[in-house]
Amino acid sequence: MGRTLKFEIFRYNPEESASQPRMQTFTLDETENMTLFIALNRLREEQDPGLIFDFCCRAGICGSCGMVVNGRPRLACQTKTKDLPETITLLPLPVFKLIGDLSVDTGVWFREMYQATESWIHTTKEFDHTKEEERMDNAVAEQIYELERCVECGCCIAACGTARMRDDFLGAAALNRVARFVVDPRDQRTDKEYFEIIGNDYGIFGCMGLLACEDICPKNLPLQNQLGFLRRKMGITAIKKFLGK
Ligand code: SF4
Ligand code: SF4
Ligand code: FES
Repeated sequence: MGRTLKFEIFRYNPEESASQPRMQTFTLDETENMTLFIALNRLREEQDPGLIFDFCCRAGICGSCGMVVNGRPRLACQTKTKDLPETITLLPLPVFKLIGDLSVDTGVWFREMYQATESWIHTTKEFDHTKEEERMDNAVAEQIYELERCVECGCCIAACGTARMRDDFLGAAALNRVARFVVDPRDQRTDKEYFEIIGNDYGIFGCMGLLACEDICPKNLPLQNQLGFLRRKMGITAIKKFLGK
């Protein structure tokens, strides 16, 4: 016989003055291959049409369904109920602005971080459409592709102790994004210019290096390598600056 799941779900709508933060209990019969995406949609369809949560692709691609599942940030569409105990507690991701219940606004956070880190190619080269595209070394292209796989779900930020303590911390996803431009030969920024952006406490030197971000990342991004890479590079740049080189 299938299990009856008990869901403890955070409820609060900041848009409604009468709304108070609280946990609400729902029960639902588990079905085969049930994901949290299926469970939450059934709860909304069958029990409470006012339940707020985000989904778009259902395939781990859009990054919109991040939430804290039994204490751990996860993509809900990629989480099967059979891998969870009978009681499932769902909370919105911390750090981000709450829209309502389990829905948070990760978009504004990511836009601000990308603006702060100037996440675009900096080059003085003029684009010439009559010329052939410049070739890029295959290994470098693969490395950039690997770092571009981030779906901006925010799970690594929600799991990060530094991000919880200071709201200006760039976080693993934004630092990973910086690493992507550092390895890109088309970006002409120097280490000193990158140092101005991330060589500080809200950048790479604020990271405590405990790597919750990598443990949590649903796309298995090599965040540990990128944080170590940037820490070494910015450490060397700091010494060079100190020596006046
Ligand atoms: S390693 Fe750094 S970025 Fe990752 S969770 Fe820890 S403090 Fe945050
Ligand atoms: S690095 Fe991983 S956990 Fe962080 S936002 Fe990107 S996909 Fe999500
Ligand atoms: S719905 Fe797109 S990642 Fe989960």
